[in-house]
Amino acid sequence: MRNRPSRGSIKGMPQVPAITLNNGHTIPQLGFGVFQIKPEETATAVAAALEAGYRHIDTAQMYGNEAGVGQGLRDAGVDRSEVYLTSKLNNSFHRPDDARREFERTLTALGSDYVDLFLIHWPLPTRYDGDFVSTWKVLEEFAADGRARSIGVSNFQVPHLNRLLEETGTVPAVNQIEAHPYFGNGEVREFCRAHGIAVEAWSPIAQGKVITDPQILAIAERLGRTPAQITLRWHLQLGNIVFPKSVSPQRIRENLALFDFELDGDTMAQIAALDEGAAGRIGPDPDVFDWIPA
Ligand SMILES: NC(=O)c1ccc[n+]([C@@H]2O[C@H](COP(=O)([O-])OP(=O)(O)OC[C@H]3O[C@@H](n4cnc5c(N)ncnc54)[C@H](OP(=O)(O)O)[C@@H]3O)[C@@H](O)[C@H]2O)c1
Repeated sequence: MRNRPSRGSIKGMPQVPAITLNNGHTIPQLGFGVFQIKPEETATAVAAALEAGYRHIDTAQMYGNEAGVGQGLRDAGVDRSEVYLTSKLNNSFHRPDDARREFERTLTALGSDYVDLFLIHWPLPTRYDGDFVSTWKVLEEFAADGRARSIGVSNFQVPHLNRLLEETGTVPAVNQIEAHPYFGNGEVREFCRAHGIAVEAWSPIAQGKVITDPQILAIAERLGRTPAQITLRWHLQLGNIVFPKSVSPQRIRENLALFDFELDGDTMAQIAALDEGAAGRIGPDPDVFDWIPA
């Protein structure tokens, strides 16, 4: 995995770096997340993001807004091939036949015959008799037939990743995990780094909590940036892939304006020192999370 400049920069648009995944495909390091955007508001938000210059959208079956993502793409008039689209398998559909059926439903909802990246959303180690390996083998089918250009996982802990490495033939291209200044998720990040698995950091600005953090505010004031920009820049310099969510056109643009400044080593360390370990999580612990939508 390595950084390299994006192909095809858009005139007047920020130059988002691309990360090369372990299968040779590239992913824009900064994208737009649509968790908790209402289905009926998703097309507008996605179109605003694409108009601002984002070329990477992160959705999931669980968010109920894949159709809005597809609509936003068509509304913005951006060619499908220009946009990196990720979706994720919902927790109810880990059984192979369910996964195959619902993957097709994802493609239909997005209005595309492929996704750039498809993930198992949660490992659910206490469900399905602890079997996420057979689910992963179904994602391998999607990669083999080209309908998923890359496949990966989300919320996988080190033992879960080890099982995939030992029992299957495909190393996940990414692991999408909770990571932000209050919860660095260092052990999983380090394991991923050592095994060529790119890290995607979800809730990168801790769902807005960093905005009022006194230390991040002080850094932001010193550098003439906003707290969200400081935190997102910190992720990028760590090598994390991020996709902040916003429904505000102004904040959508703000979160993309990250490529004309840098944080020095002391500032990077100051933000890393905000890590509270497991106490800093804002989401569930993947070892015990077992929620399945009704
Ligand atoms: N794999 C998983 O299990 C998982 C879990 C959670 C999230 N995710 C992914 O990660 C993406 C991002 O995470 P997230 O949506 O949980 O949280 P986030 O991006 O860290 O934060 C979003 C929150 O911050 C606010 N915000 C955004 N930009 C801001 C700015 N510049 N200044 C002030 N406030 C700002 C947003 O409000 P406004 O909308 O009002 O601006 C929203 O309330 C999701 O959309 C989803 O794609 C994945």
